[in-house]
Amino acid sequence: MQTRNNDKLQQEIDALQRPLIGRRFMSWLLFVLVLLGALVLPVTASVWPALFQPVEQQTAGLRKTPEQAQVLNTAYMRASPTALGLDAQWTPGPLSSAHQPFGLDCKSCHSKPFQPVQDRDCLACHRDIGNHVATKIAAMPALHETRCATCHRDHQGAEGLVSQNRRYIGSGCASCHGDLESKLPGTQVGNVKDFAKAHPQFRVQVAVSNTTLVRLRQGGAPLSQPNTLKFPHDLHLAKAGIAGPDGKTRLDCSSCHKPNASGVGFEPVKMARDCQSCHALAFEPALSQRQVPHGSVPEVLSTLREFYGYVNSSKVPLDTPPANGPVFTVRPGMPASAPASFVQGPGDARARAAAAATELFEKTSCVVCHVVSRVPGPGKAGTPGADLPQWKIAPVTPPHAWLPKASFDHASHKQTPCGDCHLAAKSSKSSDVLMPTIKECRDCHVGSEPVVGKVKSDCAMCHGYHMPDLHTAPAAAHMKSVKP
Ligand code: HEC
Ligand code: HEC
Ligand code: HEC
Ligand code: HEC
Ligand code: HEC
Ligand code: HEC
Ligand code: HEC
Ligand code: HEC
Ligand code: HEC
Ligand code: HEC
Repeated sequence: MQTRNNDKLQQEIDALQRPLIGRRFMSWLLFVLVLLGALVLPVTASVWPALFQPVEQQTAGLRKTPEQAQVLNTAYMRASPTALGLDAQWTPGPLSSAHQPFGLDCKSCHSKPFQPVQDRDCLACHRDIGNHVATKIAAMPALHETRCATCHRDHQGAEGLVSQNRRYIGSGCASCHGDLESKLPGTQVGNVKDFAKAHPQFRVQVAVSNTTLVRLRQGGAPLSQPNTLKFPHDLHLAKAGIAGPDGKTRLDCSSCHKPNASGVGFEPVKMARDCQSCHALAFEPALSQRQVPHGSVPEVLSTLREFYGYVNSSKVPLDTPPANGPVFTVRPGMPASAPASFVQGPGDARARAAAAATELFEKTSCVVCHVVSRVPGPGKAGTPGADLPQWKIAPVTPPHAWLPKASFDHASHKQTPCGDCHLAAKSSKSSDVLMPTIKECRDCHVGSEPVVGKVKSDCAMCHGYHMPDLHTAPAAAHMKSVKP
């Protein structure tokens, strides 16, 4: 009896001392939970994303106020766009700061599970990033077969990508460019090792026609760019000034070159804003206020045809020239008596308009700045000037980048006088190329070794790796760059 009781007691004690659940069972449970949380759920989420759609889509059928849905939704989205953030457990390290805002959405870069990052995923956001060189220019495997992720390894901390770029620019550029001439036989790109010691003279891009750009190396004879717009810088920048409507006027660079919004470059020079105050497009000295518009040939001819038709029929009183001072009419500096009046000229209104047009196009105005040629008529149908003689203004060379393969910001050089880099004040022809050479840059910029009083400059200061201009954004849409 005693032993029996003891046995029973012992059994109870044993039962109490035995763990509630077997150790084996515990291990299995933990294993399954981890498997579920760290593998099955994330994998399910990536294979059947529909199961983890934002709450709003799943609950669209249920009656819920939009506010309720919204709160649930944003909470859910913030937690994780994929699998409630469970896949974040796999991250090998923090992403770069630029990528952290969407860092929980692993799929934005890892679109294929268990595979290396695809360039496609990066390009989905970095759509406009160009390659270093277009394949048709140089088909080097090292350039075209290297994955984005080979150079940009993420998960190396907030500053990771930036410091990788810096490291690459410190040594990666010269590994190719130090001896490119032998790596890529026939290339026109010179070897580069360091800006101060081994960097070729620049190749300046000039327009040889209105549709074709070529790049010409500096260092030999001065470069020129054919230009149908006539403009002598020297004459206009004369220290003593130049004749203007209010007497001698001193012009400086900023009279015509206004910084653009970013300050990197300049607004294009405009006739109406920068020239017309002196080069008035007046055509009839007896009515000296009147000017033709600075526009197309039909616009100019129509204005003249209408003007002489009108004064012919309505007997407008003529101006008497002011008693003192020159009347500022056509070509600045010209004596006031020089231009002829056509109001009382021979013939009918058409003949007077034709004579005035010939004077304007060929002698006093357009021809001063443009290459003007006579063309057989009649003019543009339906315009009043169609029955007058006709002219053609040679198209003006459009503005374009001069050194497209490097960056240059005028705003960060505004302490330096313009004339240190551009010899404009000595230039008498618009065909002179006024771009600085490497010598001017080296006055201040040295290479990667610091020099007291100079600006230490590695490749990254002036160049990037990705060169979008080769691929997406040519200088001017209709201009093509060709090899000389
Ligand atoms: C901005 C893009 C980006 C995002 C977002 C991203 N990764 Fe990565 N991940 C990379 C890159 C780049 C690599 C290097 C891949 C390579 O070399 O093929 C990488 C590598 C990895 C590797 C392999 C580690 C190695 O050294 O090869 C794992 C694991 C990984 N990522 C997990 C994650 C997880 C988990 C997330 C979400 C929390 C995530 N990643 C989000 C870009 C990203
Ligand atoms: C979901 C969009 C997105 C994806 C996908 C993405 N990026 Fe980015 N990345 C960004 C944004 C946004 C920035 C910050 C851009 C900025 O500041 O101009 C950035 C910045 C960068 C930078 C500059 C880092 C810095 O701080 O200077 C590099 C390099 C970069 N990404 C490379 C990659 C690579 C390589 C991949 C593919 C593995 C990738 N990115 C995928 C959006 C994305
Ligand atoms: C894998 C080799 C390689 C690396 C690395 C490399 N480049 Fe290049 N680079 C080239 C090739 C090839 C060309 C095109 C040559 C041609 O047009 O004939 C080129 C062209 C250029 C040009 C334009 C030259 C011109 O006038 O048309 C510049 C500027 C340039 N690279 C700068 C750099 C910088 C800066 C780095 C480092 C961030 C760098 N490169 C890294 C191979 C490389
Ligand atoms: C009266 C107006 C005017 C003034 C003042 C003027 N420019 Fe110009 N500039 C022009 C015009 C018009 C062009 C375009 C025609 C051409 O290519 O010469 C031009 C073009 C240029 C160009 C690019 C063309 C090339 O061939 O390189 C540079 C650089 C330049 N000017 C610098 C200067 C500097 C520096 C000053 C002051 C010392 C100056 N300019 C003063 C009107 C002016
Ligand atoms: C402040 C007045 C003034 C402004 C502004 C001005 N010019 Fe002139 N320009 C003159 C004068 C005066 C002459 C005549 C100088 C002479 O013949 O000695 C002249 C002459 C010229 C000539 C003829 C040069 C020659 O060798 O025959 C051209 C071309 C010319 N200007 C173009 C322009 C252009 C283009 C602009 C605007 C970007 C411009 N000018 C702005 C005053 C000006
Ligand atoms: C003082 C110099 C000057 C005179 C005089 C002048 N122009 Fe111009 N013209 C310019 C300049 C500078 C440009 C380019 C900038 C602009 O459009 O304002 C230009 C541009 C043009 C263009 C556009 C050409 C193109 O390819 O884009 C036409 C057309 C034109 N001028 C017609 C005329 C006609 C017609 C006359 C005579 C009635 C005339 N111009 C007189 C300086 C002048
Ligand atoms: C440190 C040298 C330097 C100084 C100083 C400088 N420039 Fe330039 N400038 C350049 C270079 C380099 C370019 C070529 C940029 C390009 O197109 O790639 C240029 C281009 C230009 C152009 C033609 C491109 C455009 O945007 O129209 C004009 C005009 C010009 N500069 C005017 C000026 C004026 C005006 C000043 C003084 C306020 C000035 N520059 C000061 C170096 C300089
Ligand atoms: C009178 C001295 C001087 C000359 C000449 C000069 N630079 Fe600079 N440059 C500077 C200084 C100073 C800085 C600013 C450095 C800094 O911020 O660390 C600078 C900055 C730059 C930068 C960095 C861009 C930026 O926005 O800060 C580039 C690119 C550059 N220069 C290119 C050139 C080129 C190309 C030339 C020749 C055409 C040139 N520089 C001539 C003094 C000069
Ligand atoms: C101070 C600014 C500056 C620095 C620093 C600089 N470059 Fe340049 N580089 C330029 C300019 C400006 C050009 C002319 C761009 C053009 O032709 O459009 C140029 C042209 C080039 C070219 C074309 C050469 C050719 O034969 O036409 C290559 C390649 C190049 N640089 C590579 C480099 C490399 C690699 C480094 C670093 C070791 C470097 N550069 C440092 C400003 C700089
Ligand atoms: C051979 C190495 C290399 C490869 C391959 C490469 N890059 Fe870069 N990338 C660089 C370097 C060096 C820089 C820093 C210089 C610069 O700003 O251009 C950079 C800068 C960037 C930047 C920041 C520059 C900016 O304009 O904001 C982005 C974004 C970028 N790379 C995306 C990509 C993408 C996407 C790919 C794949 C299609 C890629 N890179 C392939 C070397 C590389």
